[in-house]
Amino acid sequence: MHASGRQTVTVEYIETAALDADGLALLSQTLSDEERARAARFHFERDRSVYIVGHALMRDMLARAVGGSAHDFAFTTGAHGKPEAVLAASAPRLRINLSHTRGLAAVAMTQDVDVGVDVEWMARDSDLLNIAERFFAVDERRQLALAAETDRRDCFFAFWTLKEAYIKAIGLGLAMPLADFSFQLETLRIAFADHVDDDPDDWHFLHRRLSHDHALSLAVRHKGGPAPDVQITPTDLARLLRG
Ligand SMILES: CC(C)(COP(=O)(O)OP(=O)(O)OC[C@H]1O[C@@H](n2cnc3c(N)ncnc32)[C@H](O)[C@@H]1OP(=O)(O)O)[C@@H](O)C(=O)NCCC(=O)NCCS
Repeated sequence: MHASGRQTVTVEYIETAALDADGLALLSQTLSDEERARAARFHFERDRSVYIVGHALMRDMLARAVGGSAHDFAFTTGAHGKPEAVLAASAPRLRINLSHTRGLAAVAMTQDVDVGVDVEWMARDSDLLNIAERFFAVDERRQLALAAETDRRDCFFAFWTLKEAYIKAIGLGLAMPLADFSFQLETLRIAFADHVDDDPDDWHFLHRRLSHDHALSLAVRHKGGPAPDVQITPTDLARLLRG
């Protein structure tokens, strides 16, 4: 929590192109045996890289916030797979969320409240309208259809990342039907289907382009008061590699 009483949310990100094999090997040393084993199972090197970078960054942010060694943190997972750091009872109740996509990993960290982050690589060659038809809410599909052709990709990835950030914040992942809630992009607000027990006023959302090809969205639960203070910065890689 900020001195002003505002919730603080820290988001850091790393573009994997900035790292060479030595840097990656160094970062993988901070991972647990289980994480390293999982990293080894990726078929594509690019998937392995963002996985290692994302998990190393998550550990490093926790170590910077509460002290201790990045390697020593342990995590629990919720019923639908949402990880949370295991922290000493005396430590601040930090909440984290990680996202990785082609070429970039990002981690959001705050205290007490639910937080979800999603990053996506926007250059993917997919039939965006077809994905929207399958997953987006009716009103989102309408907004997408009305968008100028030149804005459509941005609009699609804004919806996609916002939807993922929300389902990651609540921890349900895809157990939450994606058509049961929708975003309005102009004022960046969520609306829920009648049967969903959630309140748009409890949420703060942010959408940002991090690079030419990368979009990020963040969802933070906040009950009233001023909007959270969100700091989004690229990680200082030289410092991270020094450990
Ligand atoms: C797993 C899911 C929560 C996020 O998946 P994703 O967007 O592909 O991946 P991201 O990189 O953003 O997030 C993965 C990280 O989120 C965390 N995570 C896993 N389950 C989570 C959950 N239920 N809630 C919050 N975070 C979760 C983990 O740290 C995971 O990292 P890891 O796999 O390296 O351990 C889920 O929403 C999913 O499978 N989405 C598929 C995407 C899709 O098809 N979307 C439809 C179009 S909108």
